Amino acid sequence: MDIEPGELTVGQLSERSGVAISALHFYERQNLIVSRRTSGNQRRYKRDTLRRVALIRIAQRVGIPLAEVAAILALLPDNRTPTRQDWERISECWQAELDRRIVQLEQLRDDFKDCVGCGCLSLDRCGLANPYDALAAAGAGPRRLLDTSGQPCHPGESCTPPNGASPDGVCQASA
Ligand code: FES
Repeated sequence: MDIEPGELTVGQLSERSGVAISALHFYERQNLIVSRRTSGNQRRYKRDTLRRVALIRIAQRVGIPLAEVAAILALLPDNRTPTRQDWERISECWQAELDRRIVQLEQLRDDFKDCVGCGCLSLDRCGLANPYDALAAAGAGPRRLLDTSGQPCHPGESCTPPNGASPDGVCQASA
């Protein structure tokens, strides 16, 4: 078999990663992973591809679009196995985005039991928390979960409210 030390066939990569061969082919078409082709046109992957596939799988599991994963993976060196420092560097690049998603997930878990200021006026609390949808003046989206720039606010952090709504300036849904 035409295989270099440290290389994996697509079957081996699939077995060890737990990802179907068809999905691995898809990842490759999306430039998330790369292989070399043997003279018989078979794919061979460097073993560090397992780590890339692990990152892709976990990112997908928490809903991060593949385009964002591809942008991060593109920061890794092509010509050698990424070191811990390489992974640390891309982790830092991704930190703000991951923090933002963590806050959104916390909001989904903790804050959706109350009025989120989305304009639906469907809960008994909406009349008090968002009378006549006054929060629409602050912009689109669930205004009680967003700061003035439209970014999610941390639970307990101040979200600057528009005039006439959310009188204490605290992210009400999490207070
Ligand atoms: S939950 Fe939509 S406006 Fe209150």
